[in-house]
Amino acid sequence: MLPRALWLSCLLAVARAQSEETTATPSETITAQDGVPTSLDVTYASISTTITLLPTAGSLSPTTASNGNGTALSTASGSQTTEDVTLIVGGQTTLSSNGTMTSSGATSRTSTSAAPVNTQPCNGHVEFCERKYSNITYVAAHNSPFSRPGNAASNQLLPVTSQLNDGIRMLQSQSHFVNNTLYLCHTSCDILNAGTLEDYLRTVTLWVEDHPFDILTILLGNSDLVSVDNYIAPIQNSGLWPYLYTPPTIPLSLPNWPTLSSMILRQKRVVLFMDYMANQTAVPYILDEFLHIWETPFSPTDPTFPCTVERPPELPEEQARESLMYMANHNLNTGLTFLGNEILVPNVARINQTNAVEGPGSLGAMAEDCTDLWGRPPNFLLVDFYDAGSGSVFEVAAELNGVAYDLECCGLIEPAAQAPRRPGVLLAAMVAGVAALLC
Ligand SMILES: *[C@@H]1O[C@H](CO)[C@@H](O)[C@H](O)[C@H]1NC(C)=O
Ligand SMILES: *[C@@H]1O[C@H](CO)[C@@H](O)[C@H](O)[C@H]1NC(C)=O
Ligand SMILES: *[C@@H]1O[C@H](CO)[C@@H](O)[C@H](O)[C@H]1NC(C)=O
Ligand SMILES: *[C@@H]1O[C@H](CO)[C@@H](O)[C@H](O)[C@H]1NC(C)=O
Ligand SMILES: *[C@@H]1O[C@H](CO)[C@@H](O)[C@H](O)[C@H]1NC(C)=O
Ligand SMILES: *[C@@H]1O[C@H](CO)[C@@H](O)[C@H](O)[C@H]1NC(C)=O
Repeated sequence: MLPRALWLSCLLAVARAQSEETTATPSETITAQDGVPTSLDVTYASISTTITLLPTAGSLSPTTASNGNGTALSTASGSQTTEDVTLIVGGQTTLSSNGTMTSSGATSRTSTSAAPVNTQPCNGHVEFCERKYSNITYVAAHNSPFSRPGNAASNQLLPVTSQLNDGIRMLQSQSHFVNNTLYLCHTSCDILNAGTLEDYLRTVTLWVEDHPFDILTILLGNSDLVSVDNYIAPIQNSGLWPYLYTPPTIPLSLPNWPTLSSMILRQKRVVLFMDYMANQTAVPYILDEFLHIWETPFSPTDPTFPCTVERPPELPEEQARESLMYMANHNLNTGLTFLGNEILVPNVARINQTNAVEGPGSLGAMAEDCTDLWGRPPNFLLVDFYDAGSGSVFEVAAELNGVAYDLECCGLIEPAAQAPRRPGVLLAAMVAGVAALLC
């Protein structure tokens, strides 16, 4: 783990480097490499107490949470279910709301023979339905919006809809507050401006609506350290808000995350984290990243990719092992001075090796190191150009998850062919299934 003194001196070094820039504008003085703020005002909450947001801990129903403008969150179907009600996923099988498979007895009044078998995949795999959100390895697109052809500051080749079609299940980004609007920009909006946060979230929401059995994570960098209130409008206006998962406690510890099936049944399928300035008491659906996830060194230029805790600094080892999920930053960078900004850009010359299943500096090798060190694989594998290696990053994740690797990759799914099923119809069927069982 990086000691606090070292951490601060890193920040100071970057801050000093920036203060030598004579042409820096206000937004440039505060953000540094990869959107991580250089300001010394960044604070990390500690896990000294757990706040319960809801009357019944463990309930998934976000009924009492206030959203910052005083409106209660949607209750979805959560309030109609209890821990011992048997639920159905996709009309095929029964899963208890506590995540366990139930025996065939309660599942159907007409069939008395075979035990039910779930055929509806959750996030692409039937096996995942029963697993907790915190017990899965997801492939994460580093700087997901930055897919601008010909721009050296791009981190991805394929746009966000392709990323999602191909199996990316965490979208990471940095956001900057310019002209009173949140934009997705790489370090500075002069370098690469991918448009507004709201437009990006609108695109993501369309995909979420079309894929009712998929769980998605969004990790937003608040690079200018603006108040979390500024994020409410883009989230609500984009249509994403009804899908956001609100945990029952602050923080939600590693073993306490719900199963994918229970999140799907309630259609609370998007988990949104923010690195700095989250305040879950004020805005309960924007989760404080560093209360829930620790990260290995960010934007590394070191191809050995040590699996050490960098952020949050001074995280007790016991918490790193037992309370938080963790993210492997597996993107190799080179430094570049661009329009007066020091920025880190992907080392494209080594991308095939970096994203490979095995070999020195590969994603597979880092995942193996991490698993040896921490006793469980990373939850999030943060990569650049996820398509490089023709799906190798997904092969690594499948191996860690113990499921078959059967993906067509990458960018091959045409947008028109992505959603043959109407989500409204599917949802209606699902809800009908649940309702039938509750009768
Ligand atoms: C609060 O958010 C809800 C849900 O989007 C919206 O309908 C309502 O108009 C908002 N209220 C105010 C005062 O902004
Ligand atoms: C989960 O629910 C099932 C079905 O109601 C029940 O049999 C089982 O004991 C529960 N498991 C736990 C851990 O609460
Ligand atoms: C999930 O749990 C299984 C069984 O304990 C374990 O083998 C696997 O490594 C875990 N995966 C993650 C990402 O925690
Ligand atoms: C912010 O406003 C200024 C002045 O109108 C304009 O030059 C600049 O391009 C705007 N920035 C963004 C990111 O739109
Ligand atoms: C978080 O929001 C709550 C409720 O609005 C407020 O009382 C508290 O001071 C805020 N915490 C921080 C650290 O700003
Ligand atoms: C990566 O590998 C692919 C397929 O083997 C090859 O076409 C491509 O040129 C390689 N890219 C680099 C940067 O070496």
